[in-house]
Amino acid sequence: MTSLSGKVAFVTGGSRGIGLATAKAFAASGAAVAITGTEQGRIDSAVATLGKNALGIRADVRQYAEVDGAFARVVSTFGGVDIVINNAGVGVFRPVSEMTVEEWHQIIDTNLSGVFYCCHAALPHLKARGGGWIINISSLASKNAFVNGAAYCASKSALNAFSEALMQEVRYDGIRVAYVLPGSVNTGFGGLSNTKSEWALMPDDVAEVIVDLIAHPARSLPSRVEIRPAQPPRKA
Ligand SMILES: NC(=O)c1ccc[n+]([C@@H]2O[C@H](COP(=O)([O-])OP(=O)(O)OC[C@H]3O[C@@H](n4cnc5c(N)ncnc54)[C@H](OP(=O)(O)O)[C@@H]3O)[C@@H](O)[C@H]2O)c1
Repeated sequence: MTSLSGKVAFVTGGSRGIGLATAKAFAASGAAVAITGTEQGRIDSAVATLGKNALGIRADVRQYAEVDGAFARVVSTFGGVDIVINNAGVGVFRPVSEMTVEEWHQIIDTNLSGVFYCCHAALPHLKARGGGWIINISSLASKNAFVNGAAYCASKSALNAFSEALMQEVRYDGIRVAYVLPGSVNTGFGGLSNTKSEWALMPDDVAEVIVDLIAHPARSLPSRVEIRPAQPPRKA
């Protein structure tokens, strides 16, 4: 296992699902971990599973002031930030004709603007440490658009482009940007029930890819990773 002792990781949406699995993997590797979410009860329960070097902060990624304040709190608590995992995301799956303007904004503001806010707030802190990692959690939906997924697929496609551009912008500052495109993961995402457990990815599978990206030797940069269930149901 890679040692991340002395490193500080910040995981948005770390109160459950992929974010919590990633926070647990970082804590197990010796990193200090900060997680965010919007519901205090869920944040408290999650932090209780992360050991002593963990901090939970209620911060909505759609609100720049909350994001900026969260980074300031992490830096004052742990002395800096080295790793930022932009994982918080939402999905509402409806035809465009039925999607409300509020739902559109909820998706775009969380999955795209929220990532910009976190990167903008994090970059001075990462530069102050001499470099670090930003890993954005996209989705295979970013390249495989589907009916009822217009807003979600658009948000994740845009996130890919944002990540590519940012990667090129900050690599000479020692900041390594990558984005991960998971297929179906067994979480409660988008209000979906646990009906894909037989074949879907588990949150730990995605967490393992993220930890591997951090451990990857410095000379090369795997900037985009796709991970999918090995044996999904055959298409009829
Ligand atoms: N599950 C899948 O099949 C799948 C596949 C591909 C990609 N992804 C992506 O993976 C990421 C994580 O998904 P998941 O399946 O782990 O979802 P999840 O189980 O629903 O967890 C989502 C997390 O995001 C947080 N969150 C939501 N809105 C937020 C906001 N405005 N500000 C801060 N935190 C917020 C939630 O915290 P609160 O409840 O406290 O708000 C929760 O911790 C998402 O970006 C998703 O698009 C998921």
